[in-house]
Amino acid sequence: MSIPSNPHMTSPLEPRILAGPPGPSFVRRALTGQIFRASTIELLRANAALYGDLVHFRAAGRHVFQLNHPALVQEMLVRDAPHHHRGIVMQRARFVLGDGLLTSEEPLHLRQRRLTQPAFHRDRIAAYGSIIGDYALQMTRTWQSGDTRDVHHDMLLLALRIVSKCLFNADVQSEARNISAAVDAFMGFLPLAFLPFSAQITRLPLPLMRRIHRGEAELDALIYSLIRQRRASDPGQHAVGNPDQGDLLSMLVAAVDTEGQTGSMSDRQVRDECLTLLLAGHETTANGLSFALWLAALHPEWQQSLRDEARQVLTGEAATAADYTRLPLTWQHFAETLRLYPPVWVTARTAAEPYAFRGLSIQKGSLLIAPQIVIHHDQRWWPDPERYDPDRFAGQAPSQRGQENSTRPRFAWFPFGAGTRQCIGEGFAWMEGVLALATILREWRVSLPVDHSAALEIQPRITLRPKAGVHLQLHRYS
Ligand code: HEM
Repeated sequence: MSIPSNPHMTSPLEPRILAGPPGPSFVRRALTGQIFRASTIELLRANAALYGDLVHFRAAGRHVFQLNHPALVQEMLVRDAPHHHRGIVMQRARFVLGDGLLTSEEPLHLRQRRLTQPAFHRDRIAAYGSIIGDYALQMTRTWQSGDTRDVHHDMLLLALRIVSKCLFNADVQSEARNISAAVDAFMGFLPLAFLPFSAQITRLPLPLMRRIHRGEAELDALIYSLIRQRRASDPGQHAVGNPDQGDLLSMLVAAVDTEGQTGSMSDRQVRDECLTLLLAGHETTANGLSFALWLAALHPEWQQSLRDEARQVLTGEAATAADYTRLPLTWQHFAETLRLYPPVWVTARTAAEPYAFRGLSIQKGSLLIAPQIVIHHDQRWWPDPERYDPDRFAGQAPSQRGQENSTRPRFAWFPFGAGTRQCIGEGFAWMEGVLALATILREWRVSLPVDHSAALEIQPRITLRPKAGVHLQLHRYS
């Protein structure tokens, strides 16, 4: 296989494709599991700096293509989607997640996506606004002024409670500790997903696997009991297509396959979807919120503007959906957070069949990766890329659309992915991120504890997370 070489980059919008496969070092990193340690990010960035917009290497017997240009990302995620399956990590994640939205392939994926979509309709998300405002307020009421807390821990609990209440009408406060432990154990498996025989590893009685299966059993017990309760209640009042009645769980339980092939959804399928949404819907948002609070602590002048905005807009006790579009600075701050610290830091696909891409023959089984963590920091689209500057997103908040004057290509920023597998929870995540931040920063000032490093250690796992929490000092405004 040959990589076309184009060392003459003429326009920043024209992908620069250079040859140069640094294979062996990647193989070693993959085989030793290093690829999921912090150095992976450096590896991907070095690849982009050294080899250009399309980088190729071989890893564990596979061809890997790293795409570092927005135009290539668009082709991968949108145009070429029919040629792809999920990336390896998601394929391996099936042993816990089953066939939920994150892991299923077509045609099951499309059918399930259509069934799930009404729970993410704009009207439904508006209804979630008050739950978000209410739970965020409840959380801050447990805080003491002057305390230093791991706010990441708080954000995980908050996001878990919000997603469970909104989608399943369940308050999981008492189960939250077990759920978090289960998610942690599950994240621990992901570095192993790249190892040869990883499917077999999942069946070995290793301590890690035992922890994962214990967590899975606890999650199953919770979800199956919710399903049982819901099946026992009157299914007629939870009809699919009537988004004003019932929550997502009711919709799934009442769903009948409209193509008439399989009848109603099995408990196992409902469980797979619920577990997927519980996991996908809280880790990412919690990480985003934690990074956003960290950046607010590092930038007191912006934090003050966010407080002023929140005080002006949040006039009721708790925030509601109506406040969302009136918080453009908070929106910008969250958008810049997702640029600097994208909770989904790399998006991967596996070629399901051979096809041609930019003059290359992509073989079946090749891995394609689009790293948000590289493209969001590319100085061609983001001058002085490491500098925090929410004004990069000025004029782009939902209330300001139409004023935007962006010179960036669309895919220079893709925290929620794109195409058929674009994040189904994007609208939900924005509402949650903006309303929770405004609720917190209206009443509380966050700062770095004295003698605390201003550098945040991050851990690239299946999501990008703070490695040792986010410890901040909290001060209540009098
Ligand atoms: C800041 C928060 C979030 C970020 C950054 C994020 C990011 C993403 C990204 C990048 C993808 C696409 C992955 C790919 O193409 O391989 C995705 C998919 C997904 N996300 Fe999110 N997400 C967030 C919040 C949420 C929430 C709140 C929910 C649900 C309540 C959710 C549920 C899902 C699901 C189910 C998928 C799979 C969609 C499919 O394949 O059809 N996410 N997310």
